[in-house]
Amino acid sequence: YGNVKKAIEALKRGEIVLIYDDDEREAETDMVIASEFITPETIRTFRKNAGGLICNCIMPEDCDKLGIPFMVDILGLASEKYPVLDKLYPDDIPYDEKSSFSITVNHRKTFTGIPDNDRSYTIEKLVEMCKENRFEEFGSEFRSPGHVHLLRATEGLVERRQGHTEISLALSKIAGTYPMTAICEMMGDDGRALSKELTAKYAEENNIVNVAGEDIINYYLNVFSKK
Ligand code: 5RP
Ligand code: CA
Ligand code: ZN
Repeated sequence: YGNVKKAIEALKRGEIVLIYDDDEREAETDMVIASEFITPETIRTFRKNAGGLICNCIMPEDCDKLGIPFMVDILGLASEKYPVLDKLYPDDIPYDEKSSFSITVNHRKTFTGIPDNDRSYTIEKLVEMCKENRFEEFGSEFRSPGHVHLLRATEGLVERRQGHTEISLALSKIAGTYPMTAICEMMGDDGRALSKELTAKYAEENNIVNVAGEDIINYYLNVFSKK
């Protein structure tokens, strides 16, 4: 299973791991951390050394308890009043059937929501609230829109969808960390997704585990699910 065991240990220690999805999908590597370990320093690393969109992946069960759907469903309902939203329907995503985007949030105690401290605090407080089963406090603690993108995982995780959303949560479940992950795509200086070669170099130089999504999916389906 490649680097999966190393990735499990690193995630448990609160370290960032790198996950590549697939040559046939986005062909992107995301930096991933278990949300319960997020710090402002993580956000800084995501921003400076990854450079993509900082998102927080949530299990479908927790999304249901929080009451948050996929963004596409919200837009679908709002299109009655704003017909242009129907015209924007994402039926042509080139790499997958659907996106995992849900709403964006800020913790109410943040100022603008974007500084490293603010984004870290938003994620830290959200994972804490879910861990402590205080789902009904979502609206009193957070406001939307905000600066942290929440991603809703598909039911059945990698059995049904093989995005970074589901792969990172599958890894988190295997590792036994609270199943919520903060992720960010690694970009190159050329403005494109960071190549596999440069990703491997970054991992090596920074002593970070670099793992193939395929290996996590196989481990999750063939080892973890059968336990
Ligand atoms: C949000 C994205 C990224 O690709 C992220 O990795 C999550 O999406 P997916 O589950 O589709 O890989 O679109 O920036
Ligand atoms: Ca995506
Ligand atoms: Zn992705």
